[in-house]
Amino acid sequence: MEKKEDNQQEEEQVVNPWEVSGKDGGKIDYDKLIDKFGCQKLDQSFIDRVERLTSRPPHVFLRRGVFFAHRDFNEILDAYERGDKFYLYTGRGPSSEALHLGHLVPFMFTKYLQDAFKVPLVIQLTDDEKCMWKNLSVEESQRLARENAKDIIACGFDISRTFIFSDFDYVGGAFYKNMVKVAKCVTYNKAVGIFGFTGEDHIGKVSFPPVQAAPSFPSSFPHLFSGKDDLLCLIPCAIDQDPYFRMTRDVAPRIGYHKPALIEASFFPALQGETGKMSASDPNSAIYVTDSAKDINYKVNKHAYTGGQESMEKHRQYGANLEVDIPIKYLSFFLEDDAELEHIKKDYGAGRMLTGEVKKRLIEVLTELVERHRTARAAVTDETVDAFMAVRPLPNMFD
Ligand code: TRP
Repeated sequence: MEKKEDNQQEEEQVVNPWEVSGKDGGKIDYDKLIDKFGCQKLDQSFIDRVERLTSRPPHVFLRRGVFFAHRDFNEILDAYERGDKFYLYTGRGPSSEALHLGHLVPFMFTKYLQDAFKVPLVIQLTDDEKCMWKNLSVEESQRLARENAKDIIACGFDISRTFIFSDFDYVGGAFYKNMVKVAKCVTYNKAVGIFGFTGEDHIGKVSFPPVQAAPSFPSSFPHLFSGKDDLLCLIPCAIDQDPYFRMTRDVAPRIGYHKPALIEASFFPALQGETGKMSASDPNSAIYVTDSAKDINYKVNKHAYTGGQESMEKHRQYGANLEVDIPIKYLSFFLEDDAELEHIKKDYGAGRMLTGEVKKRLIEVLTELVERHRTARAAVTDETVDAFMAVRPLPNMFD
């Protein structure tokens, strides 16, 4: 009986690269997801180890459990401890002009990893993927890739260790050879099992997964890693990308390559509550990096779902339900001061602090973040984008 219920839940919670929804429209059960995907929980011992190895405080996304799951991250840390470096690989599907805060999470974290470990980074812009899934023209997907590159660069990546590429421009040569090696190892049935393709899906979709797999292998980047075929790869990403890399890891040993390691994030919830990831199609469900201070103020005050009580008397008596409260959730991503966050949680949970006061603090934090991003992005020119995207060696990438 229990087993049956388990299966039922597995069917109801959907997490894949195209869809994220909790059981009965509720919260995502991340423990279940770890079980189902077969990845590992990132426990405190990892966070302590990262702190020790990098001699700097662990990023808030580590301290607060935003990055919560991994595959073989221990092997990356073992290698690093022995004095071997690794490289980072992450990416973005350029499906929209403006990024929301959820999109920035993996990039902010990757920037921290790059600085803390002093390692090279490749960033894949899957303009081909979005052209095929979102029915965008080739030209429009390429334009969006360059626009998104500006937002990514604004996160502060070090140009002497970072190569950004678009699939339409870069795929070919050694990269393409790796795609073909991967493709030969994955049967159609296997792809259907992992990605749920149906007979109605066009074959472009079926052929895409090797494109996202290839950057996991250093030999896909001869201008960077020639002669370094043993270099390990670490992929920071949101957990919805796991299916691509489960496939990649399955194939890697069969084509003589190391499996990439992963460090995986939970989703940044919508303003309306924690049911999945934010939707790019509902502007009121997310804070965008292009939002003005006024927009942020309006969205948080008008749309943020809270756990505060409906009347002042009740609130003072019972306090807020922090479990469902979006302002608290957002603050736990972006308010870096641990002591202040604890203080707010305690007072709000006990009813001493009101929802309006918590929202006010959140608005300050978000406005500052978005303002900082806007300034950084304004400084990114087309020449800067060209420089990051130039196919070139990075001679000092491990220094
Ligand atoms: N498929 C991802 C998206 O739609 C983009 C992507 C490509 C990616 N390679 C990646 C994301 C590696 C994380 C890690 O956004």
